[in-house]
Amino acid sequence: MRRVGILLSGRGSNMMALVEQARGYEVALVASDKPDAAGLAWAVERELSTFALSPKGIGKLAYEAALDRALREAGVEVIALAGYMRLLSDALVATWRGRIVNIHPSLLPKYKGLDTHARAIAAGDTVGGCSVHIVTEELDGGEVLGSAKVPILPGDTPDTLAARVLIAEHRLYPRILSEFVNR
Ligand code: GRF
Repeated sequence: MRRVGILLSGRGSNMMALVEQARGYEVALVASDKPDAAGLAWAVERELSTFALSPKGIGKLAYEAALDRALREAGVEVIALAGYMRLLSDALVATWRGRIVNIHPSLLPKYKGLDTHARAIAAGDTVGGCSVHIVTEELDGGEVLGSAKVPILPGDTPDTLAARVLIAEHRLYPRILSEFVNR
């Protein structure tokens, strides 16, 4: 069974989906840069192994060294970013090359970066969605492993579109991660 580490910074609804729909992998660690992340509390409740450390005061290098150690000690083989709002250093991406995936709330390569829903609505797009991709040094630039289309409806706001896309994310990510860890 492949061992997956999930990194999150907040609510963690994608982490919950990955835990609840795990097939062909097990979640060996749930880690966060935010000790008060709601997703962490959920993971603790579910008796999953967790790791929480803020980079504040220790700097990015020491933070990532501690995170990397925690991942390796948990036997993590694949890292799944799930609402992780921090850029991983090129060094960390290099040591885990090809073994870090992320879910992004747009149909990549469109709308890399932030505020994806507002940008799609402003552009007058009628279709939005989400993508699971390999993490590389380029923000949201790695190979797309899978994506899901979601209609953008007249009157949609970024929040109403985000809520609709999130449902698609919770279906897409577990399926793609299961395929990826067993490919
Ligand atoms: C999701 O929209 C995801 O696409 C993006 O950040 C959000 C995280 O939500 N990466 P959650 O923390 O998984 O609920």
